Amino acid sequence: MYLRRVQRYDLIVIGSGPGGYVAAIRAAQLGLSVALVEKYPSLGGTCLNVGCIPSKTLLDSSEKFYEAKKHFSEHGILLGEISLSWEKMLARKGQVVKQTVGGVEYLMKKNKVEVFYGWGRFVSANEVAVDGGPTLYGKNIIIATGSKPSPLPGIPIDKKRIITSTEALSLPEVPKKMVIIGGGVIGVEMASIYGRLGTEITIVEFLDRLLPGMDADAGEEVRRILVGDYGVKVLLGHTAEAAEVGEKEVRLQVSPRKGGEPVKIEADYVLVAVGRRPYTEGLQLEKAGLATDERGRIPVNEHLQTAVPHIYAIGDVIHGPMLAHKASEDGIFVAERLAGRKPHLDYLQVPSVVYIWPEVASVGYTEEALQKEGRPYRVGKFPYRASGRARAAHETRGFVKVLADPKTDQLLGMHIVGPRAADLISVGVAGIAYGASAEDIFRLPLAHPTFSEALKEAALAASEGAPIHL
Ligand code: FAD
Ligand code: NAI
Repeated sequence: MYLRRVQRYDLIVIGSGPGGYVAAIRAAQLGLSVALVEKYPSLGGTCLNVGCIPSKTLLDSSEKFYEAKKHFSEHGILLGEISLSWEKMLARKGQVVKQTVGGVEYLMKKNKVEVFYGWGRFVSANEVAVDGGPTLYGKNIIIATGSKPSPLPGIPIDKKRIITSTEALSLPEVPKKMVIIGGGVIGVEMASIYGRLGTEITIVEFLDRLLPGMDADAGEEVRRILVGDYGVKVLLGHTAEAAEVGEKEVRLQVSPRKGGEPVKIEADYVLVAVGRRPYTEGLQLEKAGLATDERGRIPVNEHLQTAVPHIYAIGDVIHGPMLAHKASEDGIFVAERLAGRKPHLDYLQVPSVVYIWPEVASVGYTEEALQKEGRPYRVGKFPYRASGRARAAHETRGFVKVLADPKTDQLLGMHIVGPRAADLISVGVAGIAYGASAEDIFRLPLAHPTFSEALKEAALAASEGAPIHL
């Protein structure tokens, strides 16, 4: 009789992104036997390979180049001619990715998570077949298969001239001209990278502002930064309808959303960055008794259980913000529940960061979201031009905005455009998570002179109407 080779685990995790690999480690730490299945030869998913890590590496490198070229002289540092080695910048990015991915492989070994490289497909509600490998039996299964870039009708991606963020992170040259369709997080970060290196950039954004998911004032401040610093052309309320690819160029037809004459733009590359969609291709969900919703997401309940209770889904493949740290929080939540703990999860506490310079960061409600809910709020705002530390650093652009409940003073949201906003937002995260009031934030004895003092000032303004230093 033919016996199928089946290996048994407490938990099988499909997908090794920041959702999957973190879930695997946490479950193993808590005593579960864990198998991790990844279809690529490299662990870490979108974030480590073609997302967070390579994009932040190029953002940091390009920012240093831009600073040296444009701002060192303001500090009295006079350099000779500054030139760019794109090849070296890319090589450093590759090295950082390699090290980071290697770190995940090490962590898998350290935590005795068994890794299977190959496409994972459901055979039944408890079995996952790995292409070229064994069939795995899991008492529990986590689907952490992530997301892929959304396509745009009429603009077929050829990965050569019409590209996604993946290709944009490894272009063979610094383009002379680039059009970015979509003024969201990817659009704005990529415009900063290439804008700093001298590319002539046009952003085509469907809505009437950049970063539509974030605070409206932040979107406007970012538009001013991109236009003012890098000469980016921003076409708000426009969309791209058709593209024609030549040997070394793309001709794009762009039209105003509300009607009007179309414009033709020629560029070396067109980057399509109009969002991402959940990825479940080839997973054979139906064999496990599962289906996706109308947006391709796997429906889950508040415990992140799918319609089949021992199968969970986390990260970009379910609802909620498509962010690495959110995926990891999901993963830790499920792993801890499987180990009998009682963690909780609240997406309102998850911060969003855009790693341009100055940085943009936010947590909690936006004004728009509160208005939509008909919930009253008070606003306190403090500009960085009134901060001594910001003047010392020559970083006076941006602001901190704090939203608070007018009756209880509860902190409802924090929005920052400014230097080191990505790290400062952690104060807002703690405030939202622990139910702090705006006054609680004001009363934190934060060091002087720091950028963080602006948080206290904005909190006092939200709580009592006026900050101290303005
Ligand atoms: P993924 O990271 O997408 O991982 C899914 C994994 O599953 C992949 O490795 C995939 O190969 C594997 N897989 C899929 N199907 C199968 C299968 N059937 N069998 C086996 N394996 C399978 N987020 C941030 O928080 N901060 C940032 O700075 C940031 N920057 C970004 C920059 C860019 C350019 C992009 C594109 C994204 C960025 N993100 C950022 C978003 C972040 O990358 C995602 O939110 C995060 O990777 C989602 O994690 P995940 O584990 O859900 O999925
Ligand atoms: P996004 O949702 O941030 O932005 C997409 C933008 O495209 C929106 O502004 C939208 O209005 C616009 N758009 C949609 N259709 C359009 C059309 N036809 N014409 C013109 N504009 C159009 O998605 P993005 O930038 O692709 O990023 C995908 C995901 O990756 C995001 O959810 C984000 O959270 C994540 N990410 C996170 C980063 C970070 O945390 N720093 C960095 C990069 C990506």
